[in-house]
Order: sequence, then structure tokens, then C-alpha cells
Amino acid sequence: MQICVIGAGYVGVVTGACLASTGNHITFIDIDQDKIDRLNNATAPIYEEGLQELLQENRKRISATDDYDAVADSDVVFICVGTPSRENGGIDLSYVKKAAEQVGKRLGERWQLVVVKSTVIPGTTMNIVKPLLEQASGKTAGSDFDVAMNPEFLREGIAIQDFMQPDRIVIGTTSQQARELLEKLYEPFDAPLYVTSPSTAEMVKYASNALLATKISYANEIGSLCKQHGIDTYQVMEAVGMDHRIASSFLRAGAGFGGSCFPKDVRALIATGGDAGQPMHLLRAVMQVNDMQPHRMLELLKKHVGDLKDKHIAVLGLAFKPGTDDIRESRSIPVIRTLLDQNAHVSAYDPMATDNMREVFPDICYTDSPEEALDDADGCLVMTDWPMFAELDFTGMAQPIVIDGRRVIPEEKRTDITYEGICW
Ligand code: UDX
Ligand code: UDX
Repeated sequence: MQICVIGAGYVGVVTGACLASTGNHITFIDIDQDKIDRLNNATAPIYEEGLQELLQENRKRISATDDYDAVADSDVVFICVGTPSRENGGIDLSYVKKAAEQVGKRLGERWQLVVVKSTVIPGTTMNIVKPLLEQASGKTAGSDFDVAMNPEFLREGIAIQDFMQPDRIVIGTTSQQARELLEKLYEPFDAPLYVTSPSTAEMVKYASNALLATKISYANEIGSLCKQHGIDTYQVMEAVGMDHRIASSFLRAGAGFGGSCFPKDVRALIATGGDAGQPMHLLRAVMQVNDMQPHRMLELLKKHVGDLKDKHIAVLGLAFKPGTDDIRESRSIPVIRTLLDQNAHVSAYDPMATDNMREVFPDICYTDSPEEALDDADGCLVMTDWPMFAELDFTGMAQPIVIDGRRVIPEEKRTDITYEGICW
């Protein structure tokens, strides 16, 4: 099929590359010329394991442009533009609306399908996107074209794997023709298809992410209590996770969840609940627990290092998780901000995310190795579980004080240093 992907970000690029690998022709439409140029040279605009190879292998079926005219020749248009948080936690739909208007203007003479893949609050596809497409095209949904909602469940760093081997593919549409087209498109991916209404599909995405985030805050709340009782919370959660109703994933206590999804999606659900007169007590608490974790890291640091003024603190890990260069909502951001507010000197290291973090904190020292960051440091905060950090020797620090936010320092490396885990 001829497919247009609007928005060549983490979601769009992975979607386009994977659909190209099953024989479809992909045209990326974006506003970022650098992304357009990279994609036209079969160069990945973001880091994702396996993405570069996919773009190279399928370069004959992939192109990119800033011109929406490509929509007219496509069978399917995926809208994958960003849906960032607004001040009140609600989502900013301006990019989705703009994309829908631009797509609507170019809908061709034959029947076409417009699929919303961006994470949007329930009701967006049918009450905002569909009317915009009808107004801009002068056509009627259901006969001249149709819409569907198809959320993504991609984890960054392993997004290709998650796209190629999904647990389920969720499709929200009222159109039999849309259902059949998407069933055909996703047939090569051999995963159960869950077909429902667009608003249900929209809610499935939010409910999934909110539950995953809730598991993490639950693990952090229990973990803080376990720490006070000298109990190893990782053993607790290992045994708890043996209950098939619970399962052990997403129960790793640590510095909290970051990324472009969990914080944004939980805040959006809270705001959506607020609009509907629902207090959303549980999800508010999930965010409160998460917001506490960076403070806990700094309290533990100060417990051993004392006043942070003029102290040299090493921050190991800037990406919101390993395997990616993405720093969106990374837990190291509030930690570094507080260190600077308290006049500490920060040396930061991350194998991939340094350039992105330099945009946020241009004035801290970024080192080319973790050892360099640790050299002569009065304390160290481990904020991302990059495997390389498990090999480090901390004895070169002025004071070998290590606060581990991700359970990445092995037992044998904790002996001749002052070591504390955030929840262990
Ligand atoms: C993000 C969220 O992570 C995800 O939950 C949501 O479903 C979609 O937005 P992501 O791919 O990470 O997904 O977004 P981002 O990396 O911000 O990429 C959005 C892309 O859209 C960017 O390449 C941006 O240049 C492009 N864009 C944005 C347009 O093409 N047109 C616009 O008007 C705005
Ligand atoms: C998440 C969802 O997993 C994915 O399904 C959705 O499509 C997008 O959002 P992502 O944000 O890329 O994916 O990363 P994920 O692996 O879920 O980790 C999110 C954050 O939670 C990271 O900061 C990670 O460090 C943290 N985390 C994860 C924990 O603190 N404990 C855990 O047990 C798991």
C-alpha cells in the first residue's frame, strides 16, 4: 500500500520503517527539514535499535517531504505528530488539528483511510479529527473516506521489536472498510487484533500507560517502606510478581518514571478526569510518588555529603532510560536543577544523551567517560541503568559516596564505598 506518515518522530519513524519492511511504500511528511533530509538518505533521525538497518534495507520504498500533496496518492495516512502536555496537564492537540486540516485539503478522489496513531484523549478522533477532515475536504466520512484510531505501545530503545512483535494491535473504527484495510496491513505482524470503537481505542492507550506508571509508583512506595524496615524490595516484588494476576514487570523501584509518555499520559488522564468531574485520586498519587523520587535521591546524598554548596557531584545517566538518547522528563533533570540551585558543581556522563541534555543545562561539565565524571567527586548519583555503570570502580572519588537510583551497582562493588539505594 501507499502510506503517508505525518510526523517523523519516535512513533512515526518506527511505524513507517516497519511498514516499509512488509512491502508498503512510505512517505514521511514532517516540518523538520533535518529529519526529512536524513530519511531521504536512509539515515535514522533518532536512535532506535535496528532502525538504521530497516531504513537502509527498504530505502527504495521510503521518501520524506514537507509537502502534504503526497497525501493525495496514499491509501492510508497515519497521524503521528506530537501531543505534548499543556500547563494544566491536558494535551495540546494543535499539531494533530493542523495535520488533520492539511490532510483533509489533499484527500483525493478515491476512498482513503486516515488513522490517528498519536496518543489522544478519548473522543478526539471522532469529535475533532473527523469533522476537521470533512470541513477541509468537503467530503463525508463513511463514504468518501474514513477514520480510525490505532494507538502505539512502543517502548523507546526497543520500539522496532515492540512494533514487529506486539502483544496486541488495537484498532478503533466504525468502518468495516477501514477494519478490513488495517487487518490486511497488519496481517504480517501475526498479533491478536482488538477491534473496537475509536474512543475505546483512545482510552486503551491511556489506561495501559497509566497502569504501567501506577505499578512503578506502587513499587516505589512499597520500596521506600521496605528500605526503612531493612527489607529488600526487589525480593518482595520478585515474589509478588510470581502471582500470574500481577506479573513481575514494571515493579522495579528506583528514581521514578520519565519519558515522553508516562508523565504526559497520566497528567492527561488526570486533566480529562477533572473535566468530567472525576477527582482521579489514584493517578494524582501516582504522580506525587513519582515527583518525590528525585528529592529522595538528593536527601540521601546530603545525608552523607552534607551541604551541597561547592561540592563536586557526579551524575551518571541523563537519558530517561538506557538504550535511548531521549531526555524527555528524565529524572536527572530535576536532580541536576536542584544540585545547581544548591550551588554544587555537576559533572555529568551519559553514553548517548549528552548532546540533548546540553540543550537544557549548557553550563555543567559533560565528560567523555564515567570515570572522568567520578574523578575527585564528593558524591555520585546513578540516574539511568546503563549496564556499563555496573563495572565502575568508585574508589577514585574524593569521597566514594554513591546513591543508586536504578539498582545498577552490583553487591560486590558496594563494599568499599558508602553506598545507598533509593529504595534498598
Ligand atoms: C509523541 C509522544 O511520545 C506520543 O505519546 C504521541 O502519541 C505522539 O507524540 P513522538 O514520536 O515521541 O510521539 O513525538 P515527537 O518525537 O515529538 O515527534 C513528533 C514529530 O512530528 C516531530 O518530528 C515533529 O517535527 C513533527 N511535527 C510536529 C510535524 O510534522 N508537524 C507538526 O505540526 C508538529
Ligand atoms: C512507555 C510504555 O512502556 C510504552 O508501552 C508506551 O507506548 C510508551 O511509554 P517508554 O516510556 O519508552 O514506554 O519506556 P519504559 O520502558 O516504559 O520506561 C518508562 C520509564 O519508567 C523509564 O523512566 C524507566 O526508567 C521507568 N521504569 C520502568 C521504572 O522506573 N521501573 C520499571 O519497573 C520500569
